[in-house]
Amino acid sequence: MRVLGIETSCDETGVAVYDSEQGLLADSLYSQVDIHARFGGVVPELASRDHIRKTLPLIMEVLERSGTALSDLDGIAYTSGPGLIGALLVGASVGRSLGMALDVPTIGVHHMEGHLLAPMLEESPPAFPFVALLVSGGHTQLVRVDGIGSYTLLGESLDDAAGEAFDKVGKMLGLAYPGGPRVAALAESGTPGRFTFPRPMTNRPGLEFSFSGLKTFVRNTLVEALASSANGEVDQQTKADIAFAFEDAVVQTFVIKCRRALQQTGLKTLIIAGGVSANLRLRAGLQAMVEKEKSQLFYAKPRFCTDNGAMIAYAGCQRLLAGERDGLELNVRPRWPLASLAPIGTSNNTPSGSSH
Ligand code: KG4
Ligand code: ZN
Repeated sequence: MRVLGIETSCDETGVAVYDSEQGLLADSLYSQVDIHARFGGVVPELASRDHIRKTLPLIMEVLERSGTALSDLDGIAYTSGPGLIGALLVGASVGRSLGMALDVPTIGVHHMEGHLLAPMLEESPPAFPFVALLVSGGHTQLVRVDGIGSYTLLGESLDDAAGEAFDKVGKMLGLAYPGGPRVAALAESGTPGRFTFPRPMTNRPGLEFSFSGLKTFVRNTLVEALASSANGEVDQQTKADIAFAFEDAVVQTFVIKCRRALQQTGLKTLIIAGGVSANLRLRAGLQAMVEKEKSQLFYAKPRFCTDNGAMIAYAGCQRLLAGERDGLELNVRPRWPLASLAPIGTSNNTPSGSSH
């Protein structure tokens, strides 16, 4: 089965063609980051308008590069939630219209399920069941995964998502949007041990997270550094040291909670997915932990950690193969809990389906 995947939930237009026999044939991504950078974050209306401009040209490009004629497509998958409603509607309208015109089934995919399954695109994919740490700009969740669609939420952030915390700290340090990769790059020249930030919520039981206190800690440290500076500016080395301490606190928090999740579930496989899973220190910290726990860690290549069309094409293909398809109505769901999805092959996975 050959499936076109379309991702337009936020500020990236992603398109891919995935073939269940041959694997990923082509993928393309257009990032709107330059459009939103001067506003310091995503402007929803600008995002929708740009998706309208980019989605069709990207589809043409990916079809051509994958040697796929429109008539070769057996199905179309698009992100139907969660995300920005206007942005989601672009991908959904294009996907649904194309499906109707070609008379092939379409399927709305849950964005976080796409992230969660992205490691399946790698050469040695993980086997179910596993624990998944989902860390993106909007979500921070630990999930027990027993199969596609069988998700049990183990814990999540009570406030900011990890990526959001990275982005806000980036802003405080004067870095451009999105701050995550820039904070990570700045932390490279940071001095270990100069600052030590708290590891939020690690000294109490449970698998919840909280990042807003850590953010405040960064702000207070910057204010103190500013007060003691001679020229009214925080010097570059101090900023790098703060970036290091922040990243280290986030990584250690995830190491502690992921170890706890593996021990509580008795599972031996951990996967990390979503934009923050591209972070090299996070990968290294978790790798060291799983080795001690005699467990294994899996993640996608960096370009499939952040938003992309390949993960949507893959997830959609699995669900289409299981016989799922959209009903007649066009539905997108800006808020859509991952744990409300039903196991693959059962019918109520579209956004209009009952969430239980
Ligand atoms: O999954 P994603 O592309 O979009 C959402 O679904 O939210 O995640 C984007 C988030 C942003 O907050 C970005 O700053 C963060 O992932 N991010 C990183 C890194 N690369 C992207 N955070 C830390 N280190 C990175 N290397
Ligand atoms: Zn995402």
